[in-house]
Amino acid sequence: MKKKVLGALLSVAMVATLLVGCGGDAAPATTEASAATGGKKVGVAMPTQSSERWINDGDNMKKRLEELGYEVDLQYAEDDVQMQVSQIENMIASGVNCLVIASIDSGALVNVEAQAKEAGIPIIAYDRLLMDTDAVSYYATFDNKGVGTAIGKYIEEKKDLANTSETFTIEFFMGSPDDNNAHMLYDGLMEVLQPYLDNGTLICKSGRTSFDDTCILRWSQETAQQNCENYLTGFYADEDLDICATAFDGFAYGCKAALEGAGYTEANWPLITGQDAELMATKNIISGKQTMSIYKDTRLLAEKCVTMVQAVLEGAEPEINDTEQYNNGKIVVPSYLCTPVAVDKDNYEEIIVKGGYYTAEQLAE
Ligand code: BGC
Repeated sequence: MKKKVLGALLSVAMVATLLVGCGGDAAPATTEASAATGGKKVGVAMPTQSSERWINDGDNMKKRLEELGYEVDLQYAEDDVQMQVSQIENMIASGVNCLVIASIDSGALVNVEAQAKEAGIPIIAYDRLLMDTDAVSYYATFDNKGVGTAIGKYIEEKKDLANTSETFTIEFFMGSPDDNNAHMLYDGLMEVLQPYLDNGTLICKSGRTSFDDTCILRWSQETAQQNCENYLTGFYADEDLDICATAFDGFAYGCKAALEGAGYTEANWPLITGQDAELMATKNIISGKQTMSIYKDTRLLAEKCVTMVQAVLEGAEPEINDTEQYNNGKIVVPSYLCTPVAVDKDNYEEIIVKGGYYTAEQLAE
């Protein structure tokens, strides 16, 4: 008798366990999400895994889209334009319902974008504007001119350019000419710094201050290092370089290597700027080898982009905050601009660690 009661109790407990096991919250939520999104598939084309930010962007996009029940095809093209074209062609052929593209060369996708339009597949431009096409519905990005202004203002304030009687040497390392963001960053930067180049507070000994003279194809770290080495040997044999105005953390790493090679130490280490607040860059900021970076919360960008995907696929309303700045040569693309934030030794804990972007442990490793 006792055995029977125990057996019955066990059966109830087992059924309960099984129910909890299959029930959970996740399963019904996912099923509901899939039903709502109709099992639709989103192709996400990212430029490269050579820089950490795009890995975070891709991961965040995939995670958010999957949470909503979309199937995701995430591809990286390792900065090879043709590979990106093929990847997008394959996505179209495999029947994706929407494309999210962070381009390598923003003008090189015109044909494949036309194919997508023809097939009725909407396109969202991710971080980099897609140029010369009317096939793009929305654009999610950071305020790209604002990135340049923030870097310029940081240099202006740190060196007290408005009030100082000192002069400072400076060299520029700008982004890829096939990336619209690089041009906008340069414009924002020069809006702040050009007056100081004009009045002699800033001295660029190489004479290379134009975008064309300072841009670096495909954001190559190696080219940035090479350029910095050339500047140091060619123009800074008798005088230190005080400022490396760079547009990307990868360039800051290249400058760091060149400066170390040329024997720079803590005593004469220049102010070095960057962009993306990569993990390595943030560690370099803590150790003093990089002065600042521009923090771009890729979680937020992914979130904004996902609302655009939902808008084109489910007829929802995405949040837009710019309908003027992003003319791609064919149309003005409705955009959402996230706000970039300058981070340095003084505020990285508040912004990056407290914001949950990196943990103190990750930064200490
Ligand atoms: C992005 C930057 C990034 C750069 C290099 C640009 O388009 O806006 O955040 O540093 O590409 O990957």
